[in-house]
Amino acid sequence: MFLKPRLNAPAASRPRRTLAFRLTVAYSLVGLSLVLLATASLYIVLRTELDRSTELFLADKLHVLRTILRERPNDRDALREEIELETAARRYQQFYIRLLDDRGVPILTTPGMAEQLDVAELIRQTRNRPEHSVSMTGFHGRGFRVASAMAWSGSSPARRDTIQIAIDISQEEELLLRYRWWFWAILLASSVLFPLLGYRIARHGIRPVEEIAATARSITSTNLRERIRAEGYPSELASLAGTFNEMLDRLEESFERISRFSADIAHDLRTPVNNIRGESEVALARARDVKEYREVIESTLEEAVRLSELIGDLLFLARAESPLTELRRERVNVGKLLGAVRDYYEASASDGGLSLLADEGAEPLTAELDRALMLRAVSNLVSNAIAHSPTGATVTLAARAEGAAIRIEVSDTGVGIPAEALPRVFDRFFRVDPSRSKASGGTGLGLAIVQSIMTLHGGRAEISSQFGHGTCVTLCIPVLAAS
Ligand SMILES: Nc1ncnc2c1ncn2[C@@H]1O[C@H](COP(=O)(O)OP(=O)(O)OP(=O)(O)O)[C@@H](O)[C@H]1O
Ligand SMILES: [Mg+2]
Repeated sequence: MFLKPRLNAPAASRPRRTLAFRLTVAYSLVGLSLVLLATASLYIVLRTELDRSTELFLADKLHVLRTILRERPNDRDALREEIELETAARRYQQFYIRLLDDRGVPILTTPGMAEQLDVAELIRQTRNRPEHSVSMTGFHGRGFRVASAMAWSGSSPARRDTIQIAIDISQEEELLLRYRWWFWAILLASSVLFPLLGYRIARHGIRPVEEIAATARSITSTNLRERIRAEGYPSELASLAGTFNEMLDRLEESFERISRFSADIAHDLRTPVNNIRGESEVALARARDVKEYREVIESTLEEAVRLSELIGDLLFLARAESPLTELRRERVNVGKLLGAVRDYYEASASDGGLSLLADEGAEPLTAELDRALMLRAVSNLVSNAIAHSPTGATVTLAARAEGAAIRIEVSDTGVGIPAEALPRVFDRFFRVDPSRSKASGGTGLGLAIVQSIMTLHGGRAEISSQFGHGTCVTLCIPVLAAS
């Protein structure tokens, strides 16, 4: 025989990452991306703004020089002021200017320009890009922004001069360099801090989940009273804890019911077995005549019948609870079914001085039901009604359609059930007065069986009773096919 390969084997063998780990990774990635995005975009904005301010400065200088050349071509002092003197007074954004005549001979040059940058390189760089600024590096590694432009000097005849201008942008470059250092430092600090903070937040967030898991682990069948204390939990986890506690409530109740049920079974099985044993021992203690033996065997048989009925009922309940149990549905005339039950119980009812009536209704009422089970359910109700009704009482069976359901009612004018016992009458082995019912042979399983039959049919059984006045049990069944 071949063993089926486990399809999920690789996934199962892969080590599982903890939720805290996943959350930490997610927080860190998101945090780092945000820091990266913010600092990088700030850097780009800063660089663009610095470039723009240099361009504006360049354009402004060219404009001033052109104006002087055009309007006051012979005002040497004004030109010298602009080209030679102004930059000497500056500490920031120093600039160097060369003014050349139309033959390329320098007219005025800012002092120190030739020491700062290669003028020939400046001419080469700007030759084909008039009016545009270009970056270049000076002799001392300083950054410059250079441009070259035409200027018309005088009016008639106008002379075409050339202005070469270089602006020292090393301070801006230093600023950007410092910014980049800060950028890497912030990124490094974030990549250490985010995982640490993320881990703390994740641990704090999943602490309630771990507490719930710890409680779940500590719960055993002997320890079902344990509950999760959800104070201080966020609402989602508080509702999870609440749901979990409700599940434990239900489990605890079911466990209690099951253990009560087992104790009841043991008790109910022991009584007839003890009776059989006791009677047999007494009978065998000395020699007896045939009549005495006969009496003992009859009594033993009675107990055996009781035992086998009890076992049969228990087996029925166990099978009814199995999800594999299927109904043998057939078209049943409900009125006729009630008539059959009435006929069956007629004799015992009249023995007890009761009148047993079946209201079969004017209209025939049919539905897809399991006939044998329905007979059993209605019989259980009628036998209860007969058992708990004094002479002169009436037991009535009736059926009617109500919307998409049919309702079968078995009512009596008997002793009734006390209000406090009413909610428990459908429980297994429950008897309002165990001693009295024992005498009449009741085991307390009849109504539990009725309820399971209703559950199998997708319906339910309801009971109402007035103590001292009578009881009415209603079977409410959704109809699959009724005419
Ligand atoms: N019509 C009724 N009138 C008064 N009491 C009732 C009536 N039907 C049920 N009871 C009460 O409910 C209890 C449970 O009923 P149920 O049919 O489950 O068990 P039982 O009749 O005692 O035993 P079983 O039906 O297994 O032989 C009964 O013991 C009885 O006290
Ligand atoms: Mg009964």
